[in-house]
Amino acid sequence: MSAAEILSPSPEDGYSAAKAAAFEERLVDVLNGGAICLMTSVGHRTGLFDAMADGVAGTSADIAARAGLNERYVREWLGAMVASGIVDCDGATNTYHLPAEHAACLIRAAGPNNLAVFAQYIPELGSVEDDIVDCFKNGGGVPYARFNRFHEVMAEDSGQSVLPALREHILPLVPDLIERLETGIRVLDLGCGRGRALTQMAEWFPNSTFAGYDLSAEAIAWATANAEERGLTNLTFQVRDLGTFDRDADESAFDFVTTFDAVHDQGNPRAMVRGIRRTLDTGGVYLAQDINDSSHVHENCDHPIGPLLYTISCMHCMTVSLAQEGGEGLGAMWGRQLAVEIFSEAGFGSVEVNELEHDIQNCYYVCRP
Ligand SMILES: C[S@@+](CC[C@H](N)C(=O)[O-])C[C@H]1O[C@@H](n2cnc3c(N)ncnc32)[C@H](O)[C@@H]1O
Repeated sequence: MSAAEILSPSPEDGYSAAKAAAFEERLVDVLNGGAICLMTSVGHRTGLFDAMADGVAGTSADIAARAGLNERYVREWLGAMVASGIVDCDGATNTYHLPAEHAACLIRAAGPNNLAVFAQYIPELGSVEDDIVDCFKNGGGVPYARFNRFHEVMAEDSGQSVLPALREHILPLVPDLIERLETGIRVLDLGCGRGRALTQMAEWFPNSTFAGYDLSAEAIAWATANAEERGLTNLTFQVRDLGTFDRDADESAFDFVTTFDAVHDQGNPRAMVRGIRRTLDTGGVYLAQDINDSSHVHENCDHPIGPLLYTISCMHCMTVSLAQEGGEGLGAMWGRQLAVEIFSEAGFGSVEVNELEHDIQNCYYVCRP
C-alpha cells in the first residue's frame, strides 16, 4: 500500500473508519495518560498529595503554603490535576480538594495502595530516552549508572510491594521457613539493591544471619548505613558482580537464598542461578520473586499492566543487562516458561510457581535442589 492509499483508504479495502476514529481517540487518551503520570510523580515527590490528604479545600496559595512550595507551580499542577479528574475544584471560591476516594491510592499513608510511587518510573525512564534511542540504532545497553534515581524509586517500590506481604504471604510459601528463621539459619539476598527485604528479615529474626550482594556501590552504601542506623549486627552487605557467581559462590554456605525482582536484569542470570544452587546447603531453598508473565508475547495481550512492564523492560531491565559484559538482556518479560527452564537447568530438581492474590505483578518460584 502506498502512503497515498493509506491516507485515502476505501471501505472496499476492508478499511474501517470507525476503527480508525476509535484508535485516534485512544491515542489522545494515551497522551493525556502520559502527561498525568508525570504530574502524579511530581505530586508524590513534592508531597502535594500528602498536603491535600485531609480533604480540606484550599486555594492554590493555601495548598502551596501547606506543602512549603512555590504557589505559581502549585497552581499549574492543580490545573493538570483538575483537568485529569484527580482533584476537584470550586470555581466560585477558587478552591481545590482531593476526594478521600482518590487520596486512598495517592498518599503515603495509603501504604501498599499508593500508586503514585509507581508513576515515578515514567520520568525515570524518560531521563535516559536519548541513550535508549542511541541503543536502538547501535545496539548495546544503558548502564545502571545513567539512571539517577533508580535505586531510590526501587527501594520505595519494594517498601510497598514486598515488605507488607513478606511475613504473612511470601515467607510462608516455604513451609517451616519462619520457624527455621526463628531458630537461626544463614540467608543470602542477591541483587539486593538497598536491601529493604533483607533488613526487615534481619530485624525480625535476630538468631539468623543475613548477607546481601549487589553490583551497585551506591545501593550497598545506603543499605549498610541503614543497617548500622538500626543497630543490626546480624546483617552484612557487599558490592559484588554476580556475573561469575557460579564460580565464586562458597559451597553450602547458605540455607535460604532470595532474589526479589533481580534475575532478569542480571548480565549473566544463568551464572547467578547456578551459583545459588551451588551455595545452598542440603535442605536449602531458593525463593525468587519475579515478574508474572508469559514468555510468549501473544499470551501477554491481556496482562493488566503489560504495556507498563514491556516499557520498563525495554528502557531499564533489558538495557541494563545488555550494558554488562556479554549481557543476556532477558528483560522483565522473560516469562514463567523461561524462568522455570533456567532454574531447572541450574540444577534445581523442584521448581514450584506460586501466585499471591494481592500481587498482580509477580510470581514466586520456590526452588529446591
Ligand atoms: C530491579 S533491582 C531489584 C533490587 C532489590 N532486590 C529490590 O527488590 O528492591 C535489580 C538489582 O540487581 C542488581 N544487579 C544487576 N546486575 C547485577 C550484577 N551483575 N551483579 C550484582 N547485582 C546486579 C542491580 O544493581 C539492582 O539492585
